Amino acid sequence: MTEVGNIERHLLEGSQDETETSYEEKVRPQSLEEMVGQDRLRENLGVFIAAARERGETLDHVLFYGPPGLGKTSLARIISNELNARFRATSGPVLERPADLAGLLGTVEEGDVLFIDEIHRLPPVVEEVLYPAMEDFRLDVLIGQGPGTQSVRLDVPRFTLVGATTRAGLLTAPMRDRFGWTARLDYYNPNDLTGVINRTAKVLQVPIHDEAANEIAKRARGTPRVANRLLRRVCDFALVESGPKAVIDVRLAGSALTRLDVDELGFDSLDRALLSVLVEKFGGGPVGIDTLAAALGEDRGTLEDLVEPFLIQGGFLERTSRGRKATERARSHLGSTPPLKPAQTQLL
Ligand SMILES: Nc1ncnc2c1ncn2[C@@H]1O[C@H](COP(=O)(O)OP(=O)(O)OP(=O)(O)O)[C@@H](O)[C@H]1O
Ligand SMILES: [Mg+2]
Repeated sequence: MTEVGNIERHLLEGSQDETETSYEEKVRPQSLEEMVGQDRLRENLGVFIAAARERGETLDHVLFYGPPGLGKTSLARIISNELNARFRATSGPVLERPADLAGLLGTVEEGDVLFIDEIHRLPPVVEEVLYPAMEDFRLDVLIGQGPGTQSVRLDVPRFTLVGATTRAGLLTAPMRDRFGWTARLDYYNPNDLTGVINRTAKVLQVPIHDEAANEIAKRARGTPRVANRLLRRVCDFALVESGPKAVIDVRLAGSALTRLDVDELGFDSLDRALLSVLVEKFGGGPVGIDTLAAALGEDRGTLEDLVEPFLIQGGFLERTSRGRKATERARSHLGSTPPLKPAQTQLL
């Protein structure tokens, strides 16, 4: 891919870039009330939090799963805010050894919210330590080495584990079973994303017209992180072109998005390349993912994790047992005619 391609790709990826952290922290919703969309999830979570408070108990362990940038980490924070609890965050790959987890659990206090991001990446030996801690709030530690090894059982204060993963399918069944509640985050509709953009603009104290927020929302791939990122870039254009007092209107938003090469459905150059290779080179498919990756000069994982979910969810691509297929919707978006039927091909 060209350098330009990389920049464009980054703009629309659901996953987070490290340089974005401070911006994300600034615009992150802090309460269930401030969070936009995911209505059922928010309502249910509100009930569980209220019930836990009423009973004076800790909240059951919660697992959030779904594509990057939809609000899993934000929800974990919100839970600790709503419960007035301490927030302790770590992630699967950081907890390499059982001792790492034991060390962390040793500092847990009653009611803490312990957030484990990328929980599907916990090594199995660490999971073994986590199970009794989640279930019975106890920790079995081995002391000493060789024949003199002793197992000591320690109590852990009651805490709430909040797990997050983009890959629920990779979680082991015993891990999944230990959560009291599992919630899936779905892509947001454009209306909710307009709400996310309006809220972020308010936090940033940037005036924006509803129509402009809507225009950005339509191109944000159902993902609040992408919506916020596009808004940030549109603000850059507004600042440079119209000065610090600029109001973001639909003309300004539209022209900035066009210059960013994000089309009206939120497709970037790699989405378009994938669909056009599929339609033009492979007659619309089905074609295997490895072949597609090779034809695009892209990594299979990038296609599977970052490109395909959005295309499948939007009804542009299908995953079949024989490979990937472009839908009619994809063809009409590309402005291409349907491929020739085999019989027609033979006639030519
Ligand atoms: N429902 C929402 N309302 C408002 N803003 C949101 C909402 N969901 C997410 N955001 C914004 O999107 C950004 C990304 O959200 P978050 O970090 O919670 O995603 P995530 O699901 O944890 O992503 P990842 O899988 O990459 O860890 C945050 O900065 C937050 O401000
Ligand atoms: Mg996260």
